[in-house]
Amino acid sequence: MLTLPRNSLLAALWSFTLVVAQNPSIVDLGYAQYQGTVDTATNITILLGVRYAAPPIGDLRFRAPQSPAFTPGVEIANVQPNECMQAAKGISPTNPLERRATEVVPSEDCLFLNVYYPSDATGTPMKNLPTLVWFHAGGYVSGGASTSNGEDIIRQSNHNIVVVRIQYRLGIFGFLAGAAVREDGTLNAGLRDQEFAMRWVQKHITKFGGDPAKVTIWGQSAGAGSVFQHIVANGGKTQPQLFRGAITSSTFVPSQYAFDDPISEFIFNQVVAQTNCTSVVNAMACLRAADPTVLETANTNIVADGFFGTFTTAPVIDGEFITQPPTLSFLQGKVNGQVLLSITNAFEGTLFVNQSVVATAAEQALDLFPNFTASQADEVSALYAGLGTDLFQVNGVMGESIFICPTYSLLHAFAGRAFKGEFAVPPAFHGSDFAYYYPGNSTPPVNNMAFINAFAQTFTSFIINLDPNIKVSDTIIPRWDKYNVGNTEMLFNMTEAGRPDVRSFNTDEAFLRRCQFWNSVGNLTGH
Ligand SMILES: *[C@@H]1O[C@H](CO)[C@@H](O)[C@H](O)[C@H]1NC(C)=O
Ligand SMILES: *[C@@H]1O[C@H](CO)[C@@H](O)[C@H](O)[C@H]1NC(C)=O
Ligand SMILES: *[C@@H]1O[C@H](CO)[C@@H](O)[C@H](O)[C@H]1NC(C)=O
Ligand SMILES: *[C@@H]1O[C@H](CO)[C@@H](O)[C@H](O)[C@H]1NC(C)=O
Ligand SMILES: *[C@@H]1O[C@H](CO)[C@@H](O)[C@H](O)[C@H]1NC(C)=O
Ligand SMILES: *[C@@H]1O[C@H](CO)[C@@H](O)[C@H](O)[C@H]1NC(C)=O
Repeated sequence: MLTLPRNSLLAALWSFTLVVAQNPSIVDLGYAQYQGTVDTATNITILLGVRYAAPPIGDLRFRAPQSPAFTPGVEIANVQPNECMQAAKGISPTNPLERRATEVVPSEDCLFLNVYYPSDATGTPMKNLPTLVWFHAGGYVSGGASTSNGEDIIRQSNHNIVVVRIQYRLGIFGFLAGAAVREDGTLNAGLRDQEFAMRWVQKHITKFGGDPAKVTIWGQSAGAGSVFQHIVANGGKTQPQLFRGAITSSTFVPSQYAFDDPISEFIFNQVVAQTNCTSVVNAMACLRAADPTVLETANTNIVADGFFGTFTTAPVIDGEFITQPPTLSFLQGKVNGQVLLSITNAFEGTLFVNQSVVATAAEQALDLFPNFTASQADEVSALYAGLGTDLFQVNGVMGESIFICPTYSLLHAFAGRAFKGEFAVPPAFHGSDFAYYYPGNSTPPVNNMAFINAFAQTFTSFIINLDPNIKVSDTIIPRWDKYNVGNTEMLFNMTEAGRPDVRSFNTDEAFLRRCQFWNSVGNLTGH
C-alpha cells in the first residue's frame, strides 16, 4: 500500500476540502445539499437518492406528501434509494436473476428520485435542456428508481436531455382507498407523490441544466398508467403546467373504481382485518400505528390473492385529484399536456394470462370485471369469436380491455396532436420493447443497430422536439403522420429474414370496433 508522508496527506485532504466547496456537482435545494458523481467517461453527472418529500411514515402514513425538513451539510448522492414497499413475486433483493443494485431494499421512507444530467468533467450542468420525468413500472405494487439507468436516455439524446427517475408509494401504502381514507387521509397518495415530484422538478430542475417549460413525462406499464392519470388530473387544468409532452409505453389501466365503491371498501376492510384494526373506533389511527411489517404482510397477501395477472391496488376516482373516469375526461377534452406519443406492443395480454388454463373469452371477461353479467359476457364471446383459439382470445381480452383500448381512448383526446406506434418484433409481449430504449440492464434481443437506433430515437426526438420527425440523428423511420382516429400509426417490426420493417399502416377496423365495445361498458369495468 502506498503510504504518504503525514504532511502531504493533510495537504491532500485540505485541497480536497477546497475542491468540494466549489464543486459544481453540489446542488443546493434549499432544504438540503447534494453532491453528484460525474462519470468522466461520459460527462454525465448522476445524483441517486435525492429526497423530494418528507418520510411518509407515522402520522404521515396514508397522507399527501409533505416538504422535507432541513438537513444541514452536503449529502453524497451516490447510493440507490430504498425503494417503496413491494408486493408480488420476483422482486426480492436476493433474487439472483435481478440485475438491480443489491443495496436496494424496500422501506416506507422511499420518496426519493434519481437525477442524471449532461455535464462537463466537473459536473457543471448545461442550460435549458428538455427534461424527462420517468415513472417506473410494476403494476402499482413494485419497482423503483434503480430498475434502469437514466444514462441510456442521455446517450441516445446525444447529451441533450436531463433525466429524473422518481419513486412513489406502492400497494396499499400508496393506493389504499375507501371512505375512511378520504375522511382522514389522502386517496391516490401514490399519484400525489408523483405530482409532488413533478412540482419539485418545476422548482429545482434548472439547477441540473433542465428547462421546467420543456418537461415530458414517460412511463411503461403502470408508469404509463400514471402518465394517463396526470393527463386527466385536476380536471385537466393542473397549474402550473407540469409537462408539455406525454409518452405512454404499454399503458396499464386496471379498473378504476370510485373511492367508495364496494370493491374499494372490501380491500380497505381486508387491510383493517389483517392488521387487527377491525374493532377499534378509529381504524385510520390504528393503521397509522401499525408496524410497517404487519402492513407489508397485509399488502403482499392482498395483492397475491388477486385474480391471476391482476394487481389489486390501483388508482381510484377520488373526486378531488381524479374527479371522474379518465375516459370521460378524454371525451370532454379535459386534458393536461400538449402532445402525446403512445406505443403499444402487439400482444400486451399474454404475460398476464395463465397459458395453461383452459378458459373462454367470456369467462376471462367475467373474472376480470366482477360487475359483468351474462349479457356483456355474450357480447365478448361474439366479438372475439373467430380470433384464433380460446387461449388466443383470452389473451386478446386481457390485452385489449386493460392495455390497448384505453390507450386509444387517450389517443382520441389528442387526435391531431399525437403519434402512435406499434412494437411488433416477436414475441411483442408486454415489456418486450423496454430493452431497446433502456439497454443498460439487458441487451435488446434483436441486434440490429438501424432498428434499435430508430426505435430509441423516437422517444428522445419527441422529448426534445415534441415530434419524432425532427430527429436527433438520421434514422430509418419514414415520415410519421400525426394520429387521427383510425388512421396512421408507425409499425416497428423485424422480418423473418432479420430486416427492419418500419413503416406506417392504418389501425385495424375490427380492432377499433372491439374498443368501441369496451368503451361502451366502461361504467361496469371501471374504465
Ligand atoms: C468532458 O468534458 C471535458 C471538459 O470539462 C472535456 O475536456 C472532455 O473531453 C469531455 N469528455 C467527454 C467524454 O466528452
Ligand atoms: C391479531 O390478533 C390475533 C388474535 O389476538 C393474533 O393471533 C394475531 O397475531 C394478531 N395479528 C396481528 C397482525 O397483530
Ligand atoms: C397455471 O395454471 C396451472 C393449471 O391450473 C397451474 O398448475 C399453475 O400453477 C398455474 N401457473 C401459475 C403461475 O399460477
Ligand atoms: C412482425 O414480423 C413477424 C416476422 O418476424 C411477423 O410474423 C409478424 O406478423 C409481423 N407483425 C406485424 C404486425 O406485421
Ligand atoms: C356512465 O355513467 C354516467 C354517469 O353515471 C352516464 O352519464 C354515462 O352515460 C354512462 N356511460 C355509459 C357508456 O353508459
Ligand atoms: C358494481 O356493482 C355494485 C353492486 O351493484 C355497485 O354498488 C357498484 O357501484 C358497481 N361498480 C361498478 C364499477 O360498476
